[in-house]
Amino acid sequence: MRASSLRPIHARTRVLRVDPRNPDESKIARAAEVIRSGGLVAFPTETVYGLGADAFNPEALRRIFLAKGRPQDNPLIVHVPDREWLTRVASSVPELAGRLVERFWPGPLTLVVEASPSLPTEVTAGLPTVAVRCPAHPVALRLIELSGTPIAAPSANLSGRPSPTSAEHVISDLWGLVDVIVDSGETLYGIESTIIDVTRDPPVLLRPGAVAVEDVEGVLGTRVEVPEESRGLAESKAALSPGMKYRHYAPRKPLVLVESDDYSGADYPSKVASIAASLASGGRKVVVLSSDEDIDAYRSAGLEAVALGPRSNPFEVARNVFRVLRALDDMDADIAVSEGFEERGLGLAIMNRLRKASGRTIIRARARPTVPPNA
Ligand code: TXA
Ligand code: MG
Repeated sequence: MRASSLRPIHARTRVLRVDPRNPDESKIARAAEVIRSGGLVAFPTETVYGLGADAFNPEALRRIFLAKGRPQDNPLIVHVPDREWLTRVASSVPELAGRLVERFWPGPLTLVVEASPSLPTEVTAGLPTVAVRCPAHPVALRLIELSGTPIAAPSANLSGRPSPTSAEHVISDLWGLVDVIVDSGETLYGIESTIIDVTRDPPVLLRPGAVAVEDVEGVLGTRVEVPEESRGLAESKAALSPGMKYRHYAPRKPLVLVESDDYSGADYPSKVASIAASLASGGRKVVVLSSDEDIDAYRSAGLEAVALGPRSNPFEVARNVFRVLRALDDMDADIAVSEGFEERGLGLAIMNRLRKASGRTIIRARARPTVPPNA
């Protein structure tokens, strides 16, 4: 294949600015028309931007995979505007799922349920199940309603890159590859939805996200299984969730994650600092991704440091993590060392993203610091 024919599709990308507090209906209608005619629309949700197409149009769905460079065996999440639309895409919905829908929709909780046989295989990647969510974003909801069809949408980034939390991120990844980008500013959560497989008993957490798994358990009154894969610690051998097996969220620079049993301990930042200092030998420029609480410790040790947000407010850290990972690409640094966070509440999702972004280059703070071979 000649290099010039490698680029999958060419689109004349248009950006439509829509204020989420006072959405311009005519602009959303233009975007909906693009969806109806088989085009691609990047749109805001409360988690991250999505790359949307008509969930019942196989050709439009194939364009999603081409634009992102996404492996075809990785299924898509279908977005609906309310629970009544569930029957369009699901063949059955367990009682358990009904309770989660009642409590969390619209919102950042995706449910894996039995798929309707009428869904194209491009959505399900041939699995008997489908992932469905109802986003809590006025522009996303109106877009789906006006399109008159469920919208299949992965995150609107190139495959393997950090998910986009602003239209600028979408522009930098997908310009010329999508028809429309609806720009409604920064997203609220900045991290993707939580995915729960409710076809299993007990239900299984496939991806930790913006809804804490403890809150899901609270509503269900039962335990949710949290496999190692969903913590970002192992790859999925069986295709529990196909997305578990791909490299994700990767910045263009190596990232080392420093984990500990006691992140609030007084000696944690000094251990991170000594790891950073050892990586700096040989003239490499190191930047530390730090909690707000520890950032002064690094700066006063003469290290470059960027704030991820306060340990005391994981919501803020979750909201910043993808933006910081992308910003790292433009920083004058060769390698990044990130602090870890306690795996409670949103901390589980934060650690899943950081572990994957590091390609699981993880150093335990308790061990004697060594330079990882691939750093
Ligand atoms: O917050 C979000 O969920 C965003 C916004 C745009 O809604 N979407 C998103 O989509 O994160 P994506 O494609 O980046 O991640 C979807 C994940 C993938 O890991 C995929 O493997 C998994 O959902 N998935 C989709 N359908 C599935 C199914 N039937 N069974 C198991 N996993 C599934
Ligand atoms: Mg994604």
